[in-house]
Amino acid sequence: QEDPRLKAISDAIRVVPHFPKPGIMFQDITTLLLDHKAFKDTVDIFVDRYRDMGVSVVAGVEARGFMFGPSIALAIGAKFVPLRKPRKLPGEKIFEAYELEYGTDCLEMHIGAVKPGERAIVIDDLVATGGTLSAAIRLLERVGAEVVECACVIGLPEVKASPSITAAATLAMRKVL
Ligand code: PRP
Repeated sequence: QEDPRLKAISDAIRVVPHFPKPGIMFQDITTLLLDHKAFKDTVDIFVDRYRDMGVSVVAGVEARGFMFGPSIALAIGAKFVPLRKPRKLPGEKIFEAYELEYGTDCLEMHIGAVKPGERAIVIDDLVATGGTLSAAIRLLERVGAEVVECACVIGLPEVKASPSITAAATLAMRKVL
């Protein structure tokens, strides 16, 4: 039986055809953030899942993982760790590159933000190929954290076919939609 909150969450996400380029159906979560009930329900679904799993780190992926991750972290009593795009973090950091459709991108994390043995979840708005989440997992595992799960609001169907996501052996995926 489907959670009755999911339809309202789904309806609150605006789909913009051909943005940012032809052929892309852009999933715009800014309209979800405008709907207090749907926004809160989205956060609550994650909080209900993770509150008793011994998670001490919520890692959010720039930029839209920053819109959900901190609320989840506060509610479950965990710290929030931003995983940032290049040249944004001022301190000592490690980085992991990942493939985009054209070229590569990179996520960076401050050294010392996460301690060996900590249990972490990774939060983002959307998983498509899984390349971004795979890079996030590698960052956390390099500093000795255990990635319990990755969680996204939206999962696009092509994720099933992605080699990068199956390569991420520890990845257990939780998607609201
Ligand atoms: C989008 C989205 C995820 C990522 C998913 O971010 O918010 O982070 O793509 O794609 P993947 O599963 O194929 O890796 P984007 O790269 O557009 O960056 P932005 O949020 O900074 O705009």
